[in-house]
Amino acid sequence: MQIPVRLGPRSYSIVVEPGGLAKLGDHLRTLGLGSRTMVVSDAAIRARYGVVVAESLRTAGFAVTEVDIPAGEDAKTLDVAARCWDAFVEAGLDRTSTIVALGGGAVGDLAGFAAATYMRGMNFVQVPTTVLAQVDASIGGKTAIDHPRAKNLVGAFHQPRLVLVDPLTAITLPERDFRSGLAEIVKHGIVLDAAYFEDLERSTAPLLAREPGTLERIIGGSCRLKASVIERDPEEQSELRFALNYGHTIGHALEAATAYGRWTHGEAVSLGIVAEAHLARRIGLAGGDTVERQERLLAAVGLPTRATDVDATAVLDATRRDKKARDGKIPFVLAPAIGSFRVVYDVRSDDVRAALAVLAP
Ligand SMILES: NC(=O)c1ccc[n+]([C@@H]2O[C@H](COP(=O)([O-])OP(=O)(O)OC[C@H]3O[C@@H](n4cnc5c(N)ncnc54)[C@H](O)[C@@H]3O)[C@@H](O)[C@H]2O)c1
Ligand SMILES: [Zn+2]
Repeated sequence: MQIPVRLGPRSYSIVVEPGGLAKLGDHLRTLGLGSRTMVVSDAAIRARYGVVVAESLRTAGFAVTEVDIPAGEDAKTLDVAARCWDAFVEAGLDRTSTIVALGGGAVGDLAGFAAATYMRGMNFVQVPTTVLAQVDASIGGKTAIDHPRAKNLVGAFHQPRLVLVDPLTAITLPERDFRSGLAEIVKHGIVLDAAYFEDLERSTAPLLAREPGTLERIIGGSCRLKASVIERDPEEQSELRFALNYGHTIGHALEAATAYGRWTHGEAVSLGIVAEAHLARRIGLAGGDTVERQERLLAAVGLPTRATDVDATAVLDATRRDKKARDGKIPFVLAPAIGSFRVVYDVRSDDVRAALAVLAP
């Protein structure tokens, strides 16, 4: 499956291909990229997938260098970016060279940030290996490191030259990480595409069994939906890209209010979707059936829809610090029906509190 992302001179393709890792070198050659490459990854991902990627690049005639960064969020610091720049200089990389991010969203964000800043921007290719990175983080050109005060506070838009998704890499993900990635997939269906949502409803069993054909279709479908939003709003200037924030206003607040320790991002988004679905019903925007279908699908893919001890005051406080807030108003993305969304700015905190109360088991 080849999905074009049409952004004028910064256009690129998302290639969704089982076994695609072994074809990376061929794709880079087709793009006419310079002969030097640097594969950025963490040690665990490199141990699993590094050899096939490096072999593919070498066979296609590329020189390959590698830099290891810490796994997960620990990678997203200025120190680690500086270590990458050092490695780029050491390897003699120039603006025709290519940085390959092999890994989850953290590797992609850090490697993308290093690529965006080195020589004011060099070729960058995403090879995402988590579901979250495949359907979300690798698409759209957002790169970032964290600041002690907030995640993703320092970064740049830098579009990749290619996103190569090998859906088979999802098979080695730990169960909890795999299911967490499905939250973004469900989100795409709810706000963007009713037929895709129905496919998800029918496909939960083979999806959870990580049946290769189902992974390819569902992950590829989700990439296509995210790409369609990016094409129409590449730098988050219109309301359209807010759609991707569905479940995230409350989801991010739940994460922040629990110091990012209680839920994975996807679990918090699942709870955020449930609360925001009820919020839409409460303010008269959505019917009960729309709310129930969302909850049912999230539960069917093993994501939480209820939680004990949610501190509504702490969560409400956290929503006020949301990066998307404008002039003190928090835009809530709500779903009037499956496959559609509406941005609402004047939600009352009492209504948010009531929606959070629904999360109590
Ligand atoms: N740029 C964006 O638009 C965007 C969007 C969403 C999220 N993000 C960022 O993405 C990050 C989260 O990404 P993530 O959920 O992919 O987690 P992650 O990148 O933190 O990786 C999680 C772990 O999974 C392991 N792993 C990766 N692939 C594997 C595989 N195929 N098999 C087994 N283990 C594997 C890694 O070694 C790592 O330990 C956050 O930093 C978030 O801010 C960015
Ligand atoms: Zn998310």
